[in-house]
Amino acid sequence: MTMNDFNEYVMGTYNRLNVSFSYGDGVYLFDSDNNRWMDMISGIGVVNLGHSNPKIVRTLKKQAALLWHTSNLFLIEKQYKVAKYISELSFKGKTFFCNSGAEANEAALKLARRWGKKFSDTKNRIISLKNSFHGRTLGSLTLTGQQVYQQGFEPLLPGIEYIEPNNIDELRAKFNSDVCGIFIEVIQGEGGVLPLNKDFVKEVRRLSGKYNALFIVDEVQTGIGRTGKIFAYKHFGIEPDVITLAKGLGNGIPIGVMHAKDDVAVLNPGEHASTFGGNHLVTAVAYEVLRIVSKKAFLRRVLEIGDYFISGLKKIQDSYPAIIKQVRGIGLMIGIETDYAKNIFDIMFENKIIVSNIKNKVIRLLPPLIIGKDDIDYFLNIFADSIKRRVNDEIG
Ligand SMILES: Cc1ncc(COP(=O)(O)O)c(C=O)c1O
Repeated sequence: MTMNDFNEYVMGTYNRLNVSFSYGDGVYLFDSDNNRWMDMISGIGVVNLGHSNPKIVRTLKKQAALLWHTSNLFLIEKQYKVAKYISELSFKGKTFFCNSGAEANEAALKLARRWGKKFSDTKNRIISLKNSFHGRTLGSLTLTGQQVYQQGFEPLLPGIEYIEPNNIDELRAKFNSDVCGIFIEVIQGEGGVLPLNKDFVKEVRRLSGKYNALFIVDEVQTGIGRTGKIFAYKHFGIEPDVITLAKGLGNGIPIGVMHAKDDVAVLNPGEHASTFGGNHLVTAVAYEVLRIVSKKAFLRRVLEIGDYFISGLKKIQDSYPAIIKQVRGIGLMIGIETDYAKNIFDIMFENKIIVSNIKNKVIRLLPPLIIGKDDIDYFLNIFADSIKRRVNDEIG
């Protein structure tokens, strides 16, 4: 199959790279010529436990031989177990199961509107942040505060307004009792790995309480151990009313969830649904993922190895401050700000290392959480060497 064959039949919604992988093992992928590639982005923050993780493979095989799907018209034991686990790891609440991050946010959007309607017909305003990313369905696209993704799809959903991240004055000015919900990513992922200020997040919590609005934290990219805590909001000293999860929860098996505190979980039969949502297969995997990721020692290790990685990158920054403007992140969610992101991406790609280039401004790294120090050293050596030899040459 060539790129042309592929494009003949598959819709061109991505700028695809001309590589096709045959199998994976931990941090590594192997292409059709059996070349080894290092996956420093985990399939965009998904395969957090590594490719072909033996425990996940075992769980998947076992469940696949038993039962995949029965519909949500029946009790699904693993769904109950995952929902209970999420409650124990976050706050006591109820979980809705769907298949992706966008769907989880779509569900949260409906929940916020439903919540507002309980109080008044005008309580339907939703606040979201500029530079955010919440998905591509029309509702989640409207939540996504970046025009570049929205252009051409207007009219968008009414009633969603945007404020600058970290602007407490604007936040206060926008809030009133007609706000039914506010969405934030505590670290904007697609926006460039930008953590919000703690004071701002705390003020969102305070105002949401004051005006009886749902405080919704999109943990689709930051959740499931990515930042060294099971959910990234735990770094910020607050508790939201609703969280949305997807990506890492299934380690590549498609699953999304919206988890809401008991008193705000107001969706009733017929008000929301998903055919595939939370079926036997995906919830068997999600349960195993949660079991592995939520262990204290696992999360502690993510923080430690994240610190090791970030300090290695900062040393390279010290040597090349003209190229690397900033290294930031928590755990294994790392952003490297540079005007040479495209150049660095290309060099890493030539070296068979996959990173993410955000708008030619930030190199984002979301390696599998099981990455070892040896792998990080391997990456750092090639990264430093590439910058030294190539980028430095080019800018003189
Ligand atoms: C924070 C956040 N929310 C939502 C989404 C959308 O998730 P999905 O692509 O599974 O619909 C993404 C995807 O990158 C994301 O990073």
